[in-house]
Amino acid sequence: MLHKRLLGGATLLSALGTANAQNDSAVGSGPNAAGPTWNHEDFTTSPPVYPSPNATGIGWEEAFQQASDFVNQLTLEEKAYLVTGTPGPCVGNIAPIPRLGFQGLCLQDGPLAIRQANYASVFPAGVTVAASWDRKLAKQRGIEMGSEFRGKGAEIALGPVAGPLGRSAYGGRNWEGFSPDPYLTGILFADTIEGMQSAGVQACAKHYIGNEQETQRNPSVNDQGTTIEALSSNIDDRTMHELYLWPFQDGVKAGVASFMCSYQRINGSYGCQNSKTLNGILKDELGFQGYVMSDWMATHSGAPAIEAGLDMDMPGGLQFTEASSEHSFFGGNITAAVNNGSLSIDRVDDMCRRVMTPYFYLGQSNYPPIDGSEYAENFWSENDAVYDFELGPSNVDVRDDHAKLIRELGAAGTVLLKNTNKALPLQTPKNIGVFGNDAGDLLNGLYFSALSTGGQGFEYGVLTSGGGSGTGRLSYVVPPLDAIKTRAAQQGNDALVQYVLNNSAITESGGYSAIFPAPPDVCLVFLKTWAAEGADRESLLVDWNGTAVVETIAASCPNTVVVTNSGGINVLPFADHPNVTAILAAHYPGQEAGNSIVDILWGDVNPSGKLPYTITYEESDYAFADITNSTELQNTNDPNAWQSDFEERLLIDYRHFDYFNESVRYEFGFGLSYTGFSMGDVSVQRVGGGALTASPPSNSIVPGGNPALWDVLYSVSVTISNTGDVEGAAVPQLYLGLPQPSAEDVSPVKALRGFEKIMLAPGESQTVSFELNRRDISYWDIYTQEWMIGSGDINVFAGFSSRDIIATSSFCPLSGDSGSDSSNSTRTYGGWDSGKDHGDHNGSWQWGSKEGKHPHAPPSKTV
Ligand SMILES: *[C@@H]1O[C@H](CO)[C@@H](O)[C@H](O)[C@H]1NC(C)=O
Ligand SMILES: *[C@@H]1O[C@H](CO)[C@@H](O)[C@H](O)[C@H]1NC(C)=O
Ligand SMILES: *[C@@H]1O[C@H](CO)[C@@H](O)[C@H](O)[C@H]1NC(C)=O
Ligand SMILES: *[C@@H]1O[C@H](CO)[C@@H](O)[C@H](O)[C@H]1NC(C)=O
Ligand SMILES: *[C@@H]1O[C@H](CO)[C@@H](O)[C@H](O)[C@H]1NC(C)=O
Ligand SMILES: *[C@@H]1O[C@H](CO)[C@@H](O)[C@H](O)[C@H]1NC(C)=O
Ligand SMILES: *[C@@H]1O[C@H](CO)[C@@H](O)[C@H](O)[C@H]1NC(C)=O
Ligand SMILES: *[C@@H]1O[C@H](CO)[C@@H](O)[C@H](O)[C@H]1NC(C)=O
Ligand SMILES: *[C@@H]1O[C@H](CO)[C@@H](O)[C@H](O)[C@H]1NC(C)=O
Ligand SMILES: *[C@@H]1O[C@H](CO)[C@@H](O)[C@H](O)[C@H]1NC(C)=O
Ligand SMILES: *[C@@H]1O[C@H](CO)[C@@H](O)[C@H](O)[C@H]1NC(C)=O
Repeated sequence: MLHKRLLGGATLLSALGTANAQNDSAVGSGPNAAGPTWNHEDFTTSPPVYPSPNATGIGWEEAFQQASDFVNQLTLEEKAYLVTGTPGPCVGNIAPIPRLGFQGLCLQDGPLAIRQANYASVFPAGVTVAASWDRKLAKQRGIEMGSEFRGKGAEIALGPVAGPLGRSAYGGRNWEGFSPDPYLTGILFADTIEGMQSAGVQACAKHYIGNEQETQRNPSVNDQGTTIEALSSNIDDRTMHELYLWPFQDGVKAGVASFMCSYQRINGSYGCQNSKTLNGILKDELGFQGYVMSDWMATHSGAPAIEAGLDMDMPGGLQFTEASSEHSFFGGNITAAVNNGSLSIDRVDDMCRRVMTPYFYLGQSNYPPIDGSEYAENFWSENDAVYDFELGPSNVDVRDDHAKLIRELGAAGTVLLKNTNKALPLQTPKNIGVFGNDAGDLLNGLYFSALSTGGQGFEYGVLTSGGGSGTGRLSYVVPPLDAIKTRAAQQGNDALVQYVLNNSAITESGGYSAIFPAPPDVCLVFLKTWAAEGADRESLLVDWNGTAVVETIAASCPNTVVVTNSGGINVLPFADHPNVTAILAAHYPGQEAGNSIVDILWGDVNPSGKLPYTITYEESDYAFADITNSTELQNTNDPNAWQSDFEERLLIDYRHFDYFNESVRYEFGFGLSYTGFSMGDVSVQRVGGGALTASPPSNSIVPGGNPALWDVLYSVSVTISNTGDVEGAAVPQLYLGLPQPSAEDVSPVKALRGFEKIMLAPGESQTVSFELNRRDISYWDIYTQEWMIGSGDINVFAGFSSRDIIATSSFCPLSGDSGSDSSNSTRTYGGWDSGKDHGDHNGSWQWGSKEGKHPHAPPSKTV
């Protein structure tokens, strides 16, 4: 009932061949399933991987030594509280140890701003950065955000986000991260981390891993008093590596200080005590040297979580705001467990060294004090604090000149989807109409921190970001209407700016009763779509009856320009309307929203944003990876009922639509410009020499994994020219079609493996080279547990979007190399030898439980 019935292998393969756009919307199975037959039973446990690897400080040697010296001076109780949150001024706090001159640690949300702060900036959201495809701006945003956290005395910034990746179009937090494409996300995630940490703040890669929906992300208690466990994201090993882990691997390679494990379960085991994902993948395989903190209240046990790889419990107490000195899975329980021999002091020391190494590495022993206004903004008051945190001056203004970048990035992340009749850029319209409830000022305050219970958010005012812990407190906002009035005044033609901002007034009265003369020369319609932590989206249409607003305006305005502020995918039923002359997806642009969009509308900035996801025709086109949810599940008595089988495997977003040959409205990578670009032939060069082996040369692991994965093996070049009349930025994109590892192991038709944003004057040309490293041209082999280069040709597609492919080529890395381990179609998916051990199964483990602690079981090699 929960996981869908499965087709047998033969049926599946024939179903793949006959799938069509109308017929493959059955969720998660049948024609959508991509790969070998899915057996849900293989996903009910997570393989145990013990013991937890010690950090060795590789890459951070000097800081690791400082951390070791520091930890050697700690009492057991001090060690316990170095890894346990405590009430304090920040969203998360680690106690100070004054006798060692340690001021404690202040952890603050979130991925687009220091949320709990005044006089701070609200930057564009992750999805907006992804839509900019601009590494320089991504890094600069990281630097500027980092400097704001630092200025407020927060050692740790809880971001950026690579999970959710965006498996489901409906994911309530997709906008906090970047894109459902792991390559695009990985690059921008790493650039953001590097930027933030270069400002001296510790970044936190979150939420690790498989946190692809909000619905039932946490356990709940039903009417009968039964605890219903959180959703289990059931993910096969190859998909884990090639899709969901990929950007996190980039984050580790970039030197990220900390990770946050996620609320939900993976293969039945909670994210913060899953030894396979924490000990096995993150610390062993990727060589992560920092620490793993729990998401807030995601810890469900003490020693079992610690032995599975969790290093820090947040916010610390058993209840959300409870002091950990009262009741905690960590805290006093760590002291007791070490004293009675059920927890090794070596593991506790490792946790402490992991926490302190990035602190020393980033020079945080000399850090600005915590802003004195923090307690007043937090859920704890100063009276709740068990330890004295040193506070500095209040209301420190950390905004600097960051508005400049925010304005630029807001425009850079705006995607021009349609532009007919030379609607844009605007020339000097004399009569400007502004419509829609997203155009004006905020009527309900400048802060959207409440967790969502679904719905459309607030009705009136521009939507600069989504809601929940990933939002920011605006210190001001530039609504589109204000910026339009300002810009229209600069035209010097005494233009009229008339507006109706009430969507109901528009749909009920036709929209023009207050406008004269009507229709205006241009009708600018501003719409929005709310998304927030705590709930998934229920619709992909624009909110607040926005579709009807557009249809009403366009029925009599032949020059209707639609702008959406949205956290991600919107289907746009009005896109073919002849009177809708332009559409702009402006995403969540941050505090300068109005200025960013006006720069695009009037052509002061040439649009260069590209979709970081695919827009299809119908909402049902996304059903291949739906949110797991139903009335039956909401009312279940079965603790283990919430199961999400990721049966589509690698085929999310454009990989799905490409594989099933579905036509889409606006594809991944698409976006128009006010100029035109051309692309010449593609050339592929081998970098370095010698025959390549399928598997990487073995090396000791460094942060990021086997360093050979990053060896550049090929370089692909294309030449781009600006063929139009104005300067503009192009985003040439490189996609690869890798060979299928075996007949039943489906690989995407094409997957992004290179992009660059280049500014070109009219007539100017530039050659762009995309460097391909070993991982870029490999698949994850579940048998050898290695990234392997497949035998066969790799197809090369260069173009301006995933479907605007201009130049193609191919190369064969292993040519001349016969056989090799990689071409063995007789192997089957085996799961794990140890098969059904339930040791790592759920959150019910108690302190000291040793059950299920088996050595790392090797993957099956059965034929
Ligand atoms: C789906 O496929 C079945 C079997 O091939 C066919 O009978 C049915 O008409 C198809 N439905 C649609 C909507 O195309
Ligand atoms: C989940 O189960 C699948 C199938 O057994 C396995 O390939 C994968 O490695 C498991 N992942 C985790 C994190 O348990
Ligand atoms: C971690 O280091 C301690 C000694 O400090 C050692 O006893 C333990 O075996 C090490 N653990 C692992 C997994 O290597
Ligand atoms: C230890 O953990 C248990 C839950 O497993 C909790 O009930 C108890 O209060 C904790 N003790 C301390 C000292 O925090
Ligand atoms: C050791 O201490 C832990 C934490 O308080 C407790 O859960 C466990 O039962 C104790 N074990 C023994 C053998 O006393
Ligand atoms: C918006 O318009 C509707 C329909 O005309 C009206 O009922 C409602 O009161 C208006 N809202 C505001 C805030 O004026
Ligand atoms: C949306 O607009 C349509 C068309 O004008 C109208 O019939 C409908 O009542 C509106 N719905 C809401 C919820 O306002
Ligand atoms: C487009 O606008 C004109 C008014 O200029 C109107 O007559 C026409 O019906 C509109 N077209 C559509 C499809 O609504
Ligand atoms: C989940 O299902 C419940 C019950 O059917 C429904 O009320 C809720 O809106 C659904 N949530 C989402 C995000 O679709
Ligand atoms: C998609 O089209 C290609 C090329 O025409 C074809 O080989 C492939 O079988 C099609 N895939 C599906 C799932 O229909
Ligand atoms: C395929 O794998 C099996 C088991 O590892 C091995 O016995 C066989 O020789 C391999 N075949 C090829 C063609 O590599």
